Amino acid sequence: MSPRTPPAAPGCDFSVKPVLTGEKALLRPFSEDDVPVMAEILADPEVLRLTGSPVTDFDPERLHAWYATRSEQDDRLDLGVVDRASGELVGEAVLMEWDEPNRSCTFRILLGPRGRDRGLGTDATRLIVGYAFERLRMHRVALWVFAFNPRARRAYENAGFVAEGVERETLLHEGEWIDAVRMSVLSREWAAHRGRPAGPRTLPAD
Ligand SMILES: CC(C)(COP(=O)(O)OP(=O)(O)OC[C@H]1O[C@@H](n2cnc3c(N)ncnc32)[C@H](O)[C@@H]1OP(=O)(O)O)[C@@H](O)C(=O)NCCC(=O)NCCS
Repeated sequence: MSPRTPPAAPGCDFSVKPVLTGEKALLRPFSEDDVPVMAEILADPEVLRLTGSPVTDFDPERLHAWYATRSEQDDRLDLGVVDRASGELVGEAVLMEWDEPNRSCTFRILLGPRGRDRGLGTDATRLIVGYAFERLRMHRVALWVFAFNPRARRAYENAGFVAEGVERETLLHEGEWIDAVRMSVLSREWAAHRGRPAGPRTLPAD
């Protein structure tokens, strides 16, 4: 750890499951009661298409076991995304693949139809990424987004992510090869971005 890097807050790691409150979204730990709603969201055709998920038929028992145990995981942070206006669970936001020595992790998010296109995705992304940098002292948070998902890319850009490379033709979708774009945000960029209005950003020249 660099001497200039403050340590993570005591007891603050992926085993801690916080409640994070934003303007439109609230992120909170999962419970078994969330299984029916998440089953519906994960079966949404747009979620399946845009996440490149090959699974269309989720085994109810496995799904139950998955969401019932999210709060026990210390190597990843899975949080439910709640629409603050309705109190409804509309999706999930996840930090995972924690590379502790290098203080980096990956991020993924998905929202069902009732959560989309109202700024919740941007808000939820900002909340969990802010938590990664400000509480967990991450240096880098990265993600993959398919090229046919400009909405997600825009939401990520609004939260400070920049595109850094393309993995070519990584998904075969309905007979067409789709690229995936690698995006990331670094701690110093997050610090600079926090107070900024939303808008697209490009990778700095250096
Ligand atoms: C991707 C996702 C998290 C975004 O969340 P959201 O709440 O729907 O998005 P937001 O309303 O916060 O922001 C979307 C942004 O994209 C823009 N947008 C919407 N459709 C767009 C399109 N077709 N092309 C370009 N930009 C688009 C919106 O205008 C908005 O930008 P702005 O705030 O600068 O105007 C959510 O739509 C989702 O989960 N979709 C299904 C699964 C998925 O795609 N997961 C991500 C896999 S990488």
